[in-house]
Amino acid sequence: MRIPIPQRRYELTDPRVGKGRKMAASAAPLVPERPTLSRLREAAAHCRACPLWETGTQTVFGEGSPNAEVMLVGEQPGDREDIEGRPFVGPAGRLLDEALAEAGIDRDTTYVTNAVKHFKWVGRGKRRIHQKPTWSETMACRPWLEAELAVVRPRVLVCLGAVAGQALLGKQFRVTKQRGEWIDSDLAELVTATIHPSAILRQRDGDARRQEFARFVDDLRKVAAVL
Ligand code: URA
Ligand code: SF4
Repeated sequence: MRIPIPQRRYELTDPRVGKGRKMAASAAPLVPERPTLSRLREAAAHCRACPLWETGTQTVFGEGSPNAEVMLVGEQPGDREDIEGRPFVGPAGRLLDEALAEAGIDRDTTYVTNAVKHFKWVGRGKRRIHQKPTWSETMACRPWLEAELAVVRPRVLVCLGAVAGQALLGKQFRVTKQRGEWIDSDLAELVTATIHPSAILRQRDGDARRQEFARFVDDLRKVAAVL
């Protein structure tokens, strides 16, 4: 049975309801009343609910089929994604594409998004180094993800890495312990998590990388098997 995802949290987070009290920042008040993917994308483009809009070039909203059976959720856009405004188009995205293809899942039939929709980074020389979003940034951004889930209603939800896993399944969720398992959750009929493709890219030697890639593909094959 599908339990609807609450789309609005005005009571808790909308400063207008708070009568001057300082409330936790949240994108919730910006989520349109009757969301469609294009309305959401347009509204999210103007989001300033957490500080990350200041350093990110643009909001990188999810992308894919509104009828997707599978939704894949990453952490946040990277350098490339920040520039192009599309999720998973940089090195991690290429790895994801390869793994999906190997597992027999066509990316064009999926919906791909991130837990946090602005790129968080620190400068090191000319490079912009990825920074993990804080819990409060992740929570501020979650209404966009919840709205995407409510619109797409994927049958299978795949969290890529710890940030996505915790954003959707709670702070206590450990991807290292539960990867590749079906997780009890109301978010979709089938919910699972695996590592983030960037974790594969971070492996130092080729052997470790190949091994991690193979495990990643194995986790995605479990998804392919139920489609
Ligand atoms: N890493 C992510 O989590 N998401 C992207 O879109 C790109 C890299
Ligand atoms: Fe809004 Fe999310 Fe960007 Fe923060 S990261 S400004 S909550 S879209």
